[in-house]
Amino acid sequence: MGSADDEYGVSSIRKSSQPSQTKFKLKILILVILTNLVTIYIFTGPNVPIPQNLNLPLYWDNSKLLRELNATKRELANSRTQISDLQEHLKATNILSKSLQEQLTEFKEAIDEHPLSGVSFTQINPSYNELLNGLSPEAKRAMGPHKLPLGYYSRVGSDELYPSVGGACLKYKDELEEFMKYEVGGECPVDDVFAQKLMMKGCEPMPRRRCHPKSPRNYADPTPLPESLWSTPSDTSIIWDPYSCKNYSCLNNRRNMPGYFDCNDCFDLKGREKTRWLVDNGGIDFGIDKVLKVKPPGTIRIGLDIGGGSGTFAARMKERNVTIVTTSMNLDGPFNSFIASRGLISMHVTVSQRLPFFENTLDIVHSMHVLSNWIPDEMLELTFYDIYRVLRPGGIFWLDHFFCFGSQLNTTYVPMIDRVGFKKLRWSTGMKVDRGIDKNEWYFSALLEKPKL
Ligand SMILES: *[C@@H]1O[C@H](CO)[C@@H](O)[C@H](O)[C@H]1NC(C)=O
Ligand SMILES: *[C@@H]1O[C@H](CO)[C@@H](O)[C@H](O)[C@H]1NC(C)=O
Ligand SMILES: *[C@@H]1O[C@H](CO)[C@@H](O)[C@H](O)[C@H]1NC(C)=O
Ligand SMILES: *[C@@H]1O[C@H](CO)[C@@H](O)[C@H](O)[C@H]1NC(C)=O
Repeated sequence: MGSADDEYGVSSIRKSSQPSQTKFKLKILILVILTNLVTIYIFTGPNVPIPQNLNLPLYWDNSKLLRELNATKRELANSRTQISDLQEHLKATNILSKSLQEQLTEFKEAIDEHPLSGVSFTQINPSYNELLNGLSPEAKRAMGPHKLPLGYYSRVGSDELYPSVGGACLKYKDELEEFMKYEVGGECPVDDVFAQKLMMKGCEPMPRRRCHPKSPRNYADPTPLPESLWSTPSDTSIIWDPYSCKNYSCLNNRRNMPGYFDCNDCFDLKGREKTRWLVDNGGIDFGIDKVLKVKPPGTIRIGLDIGGGSGTFAARMKERNVTIVTTSMNLDGPFNSFIASRGLISMHVTVSQRLPFFENTLDIVHSMHVLSNWIPDEMLELTFYDIYRVLRPGGIFWLDHFFCFGSQLNTTYVPMIDRVGFKKLRWSTGMKVDRGIDKNEWYFSALLEKPKL
């Protein structure tokens, strides 16, 4: 962005008191000139009646009179030159004054157009300030608006820049304060799990902090591509503090540990991950190669995997020259660090957040096991609309292993997908077998297309 001066003419504000002063000076000047001219005219003009009080020589002296006449003529000539000089000066001053007037008008128009320009935050939106009441200065700094330089209104649409922070952050002021407690410039507390809980409660995005995250000791350089796609990273490349498992052999064995863990076998790259999406069983397991074939070769290039576990979908796609961004939470494991260590792009966002992509941009969106009936219907519909938004016309939404009850399938989800406007290219339903508890639990997989107009 350019300087503020060019847009609102700050220079013209500083000079705005000048024109009246200049005018005043001009008036005095013109008065002086006029007085001189009148005097000259009186002394030299033809047929002038001699005023009574004029100091005339008492005797007739022709030569003296001529000298005086000559002197007067010279004076007259000098005065003429001065007048023409003054006229030039006046012309120049007029031009300057006109241009100042124009700038002033422009500035006034700008003010009229954006009445908030130059008004301080407390005057515009006291209620937002009230919301921040009681927060520490550091939290206010991270969450409060910051004044923009004059002239940015038309580009930003505001006179302040508001840090993007989830509205629900302010519902949890105590936890927020806890999160914002650190030594400025020092090391941040290791609080990913705590922070992530706040995110999932709606404090997303979270406020920024002025501290450094703890760095792994003896950080091992990443494995080079393409080996990194299928290499378990070194234990020293990740901070493990928040997790009960302190190494990958432990993470890989979580399925044998008591309690339910999300994405149980995802960290074992030699196990089930190795074969995911390679085989198309004609049922609910779609294969990547068959899916890519629904579009002309090379036209599926960029996309998103929502809740992509340890990143295996993105790895498989990268092998096919498709760039996939994987969103993941760090539930029960360092998923984001793991995805990144494979040389894939991880993004730490919940499923609630509006997708950070522009509309009509992505070739493919995939999601497996994540978007399912645990997400409240109204929210799920918004998510589907958001996916529709970011897909390009003709883009593919691969809804992979969506689980629900049989009764919900035809009453809730099929109508929802139709309502959002997706076209079904492929559709498979099947009963759940892996946990096999309730016969009423169903899966469906679908290839949905955003129609071209
Ligand atoms: C007046 O000026 C003219 C020429 O400018 C000169 O010839 C003449 O001598 C002058 N007269 C006197 C009295 O100075
Ligand atoms: C991995 O961590 C577990 C427990 O966190 C520990 O019992 C085990 O010895 C560790 N293994 C290695 C190879 O460090
Ligand atoms: C991916 O791109 C590389 C370089 O352009 C090319 O050599 C390779 O054949 C491509 N792989 C696939 C599966 O298309
Ligand atoms: C849903 O509807 C389809 C056809 O309309 C039907 O074949 C299928 O059995 C239904 N599924 C369930 C789980 O009710």
